[in-house]
Amino acid sequence: MSIFDGALGLSVTAASGIEAVTKKELIDLGYAPGGAEFGRISFEGTFRDAARCNLFLRTADRVYINICKFRAESFDELFDGVKTVKWREIIPADGKVVVNAKSRGSKLFALSAIQRVVKKAIAASYPAGLSETAETYSVDAVIVNDEVTLALDASGNALHKRGYRTFVGEAPLKETLAAAMILLSGWKPEFPFADPFCGSGTLPVEAALIATDTAPGLNRGFASEAFRFAPDVYEGVREEARDLIKSDVKPRISGFDINKDAVRLALAHAEKAGVRDKIHLQTADMRVFSSRFAHGHIVTNPPYGERLMRGRELDVLYRDFSKVYFSLDDWRLALITSYYAFERAFGAKAKKRRKLYNAELEATLYFY
Ligand SMILES: C[S@@+](CC[C@H](N)C(=O)[O-])C[C@H]1O[C@@H](n2cnc3c(N)ncnc32)[C@H](O)[C@@H]1O
Repeated sequence: MSIFDGALGLSVTAASGIEAVTKKELIDLGYAPGGAEFGRISFEGTFRDAARCNLFLRTADRVYINICKFRAESFDELFDGVKTVKWREIIPADGKVVVNAKSRGSKLFALSAIQRVVKKAIAASYPAGLSETAETYSVDAVIVNDEVTLALDASGNALHKRGYRTFVGEAPLKETLAAAMILLSGWKPEFPFADPFCGSGTLPVEAALIATDTAPGLNRGFASEAFRFAPDVYEGVREEARDLIKSDVKPRISGFDINKDAVRLALAHAEKAGVRDKIHLQTADMRVFSSRFAHGHIVTNPPYGERLMRGRELDVLYRDFSKVYFSLDDWRLALITSYYAFERAFGAKAKKRRKLYNAELEATLYFY
C-alpha cells in the first residue's frame, strides 16, 4: 500500500484568465473543484483521477498530487515540515528529485534557498541519501502568506504540449489557450467553425479534437506514469479515452492563412493530431472569406502589434477584417489580440472582453 493507492488531494494549474474554464472542465469530468487560488484549483480524487485529468483536460497547464500543507516562517521550520512527509513511500531512493519553488507575501522568498532546503529535507529521509539515477519526481514548493504547500507534478511536460505541434510557426497560440478560447466562444460542434488567420492550425486542430471528443493528451506520456510506487492506471484511462472518440462525425471546421508555408504546417499538425479529415485548410487572404452558412463561429488570432505587424498596417488589416465579418449573416466572433486600438480599428465595440495571456504577453479576447 502506498499513498498513491488511496484518496488524494489533487490540484491543477491554469493560466490567468482561464481558471473558470478549467474548473468547468473538472466539473464535467465528474469532480468537485474548489475555487482557484493563484491559478491552482484543488479537488479530491485518486491516482487514476490524476491520470484522467492529464489526458482529458484541454485548458490546464499541469496536474499535481498534493502532499502536505504547513506553516513556515524560517528555513528550520521549512526543513522540519518537509521532513514530516514519508518520502520513502513516494520516491524511491534512486529517484531524481527536482524542486520548483514559488513564494508570495511570505518571510521565505529566496527561491533558490527554498529549493535547496526542501531538497535537503527530502534527501534526509533516506539513510544513504538519494542516488538520483532513475525517473524524475518534480516537487512544487509553493509558499503563500507563510503557508507551504508541497505537491508532486503528475504531468511532467506542460499539458499544452499535446505532441501534434512538432514544427513551430510564426507567433503560435498555446494549445491550452486555443482550447480555452473555443470553449469560451460558446461554439458547439454542430456549428460551422472558421479561423481566417489560422497560422500553424492550433485553433482548427483544437476545435476538431473537441468535435471528435478526442482527449488532448492521448498521444503523449506523463511523469506520473513512471512513478514506481503508483498503481498501473494509464492503459485503462487511455482505453477510456479511445472508446470516447467519435471518428464518424463530420464537423464543418476550416482554417485559412495568407502564408502557404503556415498552411503546410497546419496540414502537418492536423495529420499528426489525427484530425486531418475533419478540417478544411486553404491558403487564402481573409479578405475573400465568405460562407454559405447563415450561422457559424469565427475563433481567431490575427497578427499582434508587438509580434507581427505595426500600427498602420494593423489598422488596415482589422478594418478590412471588420468588413468581412459584418458581411456574414449571423456569425459570432471571438478574437484575441494585444493591439490596444483593436476596437477602434475594427469599428465596433465588443459585447464582452476578457483579459488573457499568450506566452506572457497580455492580450484581450473580444466577443462579437
Ligand atoms: C498570430 S498568427 C496566427 C497563429 C496561429 N493561431 C497559430 O497557432 O499558429 C497570425 C497569422 O495571420 C496570417 N495573416 C496575416 N495577414 C493575413 C491575411 N490578410 N489573410 C489571412 N491570413 C493572414 C499570418 O500569416 C499569420 O500566420
